Amino acid sequence: MSTQYRCLLVEKLENKQFSRSVTHRSIDNLPAGDLLIKVDYSSLNYKDALSAMGNPAVSRNFPHTPGIDAAGNIVESNSDDFAVGDKVLVTGFDLGMNTAGGFGEYIRIPKSWAVKLPENLTTREAMIIGTAGFTAAMSVQALLDGGTRPEHGQILVTGSTGGVGSVAIALLAKSGFEVVAVTGKAEQAEFLKSLGASEVVTRESLLEGAEKPMMRERWAGVVDCVGGNYLAAAIKSTRYGGNVTCCGLTASADLSLNVFPFILRGVSLLGIDSVECPMAPRLKLWAKLASEWKLDNLEDFVTECSLDALDQKINDILAGKVVGRTLVNLKTD
Ligand SMILES: NC(=O)c1ccc[n+]([C@@H]2O[C@H](COP(=O)([O-])OP(=O)(O)OC[C@H]3O[C@@H](n4cnc5c(N)ncnc54)[C@H](OP(=O)(O)O)[C@@H]3O)[C@@H](O)[C@H]2O)c1
Repeated sequence: MSTQYRCLLVEKLENKQFSRSVTHRSIDNLPAGDLLIKVDYSSLNYKDALSAMGNPAVSRNFPHTPGIDAAGNIVESNSDDFAVGDKVLVTGFDLGMNTAGGFGEYIRIPKSWAVKLPENLTTREAMIIGTAGFTAAMSVQALLDGGTRPEHGQILVTGSTGGVGSVAIALLAKSGFEVVAVTGKAEQAEFLKSLGASEVVTRESLLEGAEKPMMRERWAGVVDCVGGNYLAAAIKSTRYGGNVTCCGLTASADLSLNVFPFILRGVSLLGIDSVECPMAPRLKLWAKLASEWKLDNLEDFVTECSLDALDQKINDILAGKVVGRTLVNLKTD
């Protein structure tokens, strides 16, 4: 009999609805690939919740196990680059989209998706960071590469209690930036300050005056996770020569804007995609997250859950209720 493993399985029902359950599957159901990995930890990202809801922009093939993140040990390898027993992390590519993902005790993937776990990082720490934290790191790196420096002024972070936002605050503070956090959860102000935000403002305050073609110059840079009117307002209030990163759409995928911030203030809008991030910058950034950007308060970001508790967490993240990062523990020993 082939090995059975536990996973969260999303199934398409006849009425175009989707069901979610924790069940056993055979390893034979996993796709072909170079590396079979026993997963220690995964993490919950917004995109996983979309996949778990059957959103066709994320996942089209069902039954399906979501989970765009996984870290664990290689148990079978068809690659000279990876040996049995190596610890690896995987984020993005097709993992958890149409390839069975990290919400299962095993994954099988092409070797080109695997990152050897950097020294000084555990599988648990890697998954506290996960796709959200890696995207935060890409965003902060993009600001730095664009020339934004702490002496230029404040950095605005939107969606700040979320996975990307919370890690971005901590990385920016660690890099010496003064951070202003925008949140819809006023009660989380102390948490955001503990991560390194020097000021916490409401979503509504960001939109004050946003009907005007341009707003008062405030931000040296912006890490935006939410899109829509918030991103438009952030761009309109970015200072001369500032950089704005765009990675997410929790508020809206639309962006209604004029060209003035770009042609009158030289503002740059920088797109961030962690999914297809090429391996060279990917390795460089993970090495940085394990060294000069290693956050010593990683446990402060985390709510840990089991596969069985994921169902509720998926509902919570879709409702914008999650704070920080949700770590999924798949360890069986
Ligand atoms: N481009 C990429 O490679 C990449 C990678 C990772 C994530 N993403 C995207 O980035 C976004 C954030 O991801 P995440 O993992 O940080 O998600 P998350 O943990 O769910 O956080 C999103 C945050 O957005 C804010 N928010 C939620 N609904 C909102 C609304 N209607 N209006 C305004 N703000 C709202 C909330 O923060 P507050 O309550 O504090 O305001 C929420 O905590 C998602 O759209 C995700 O798909 C993209």
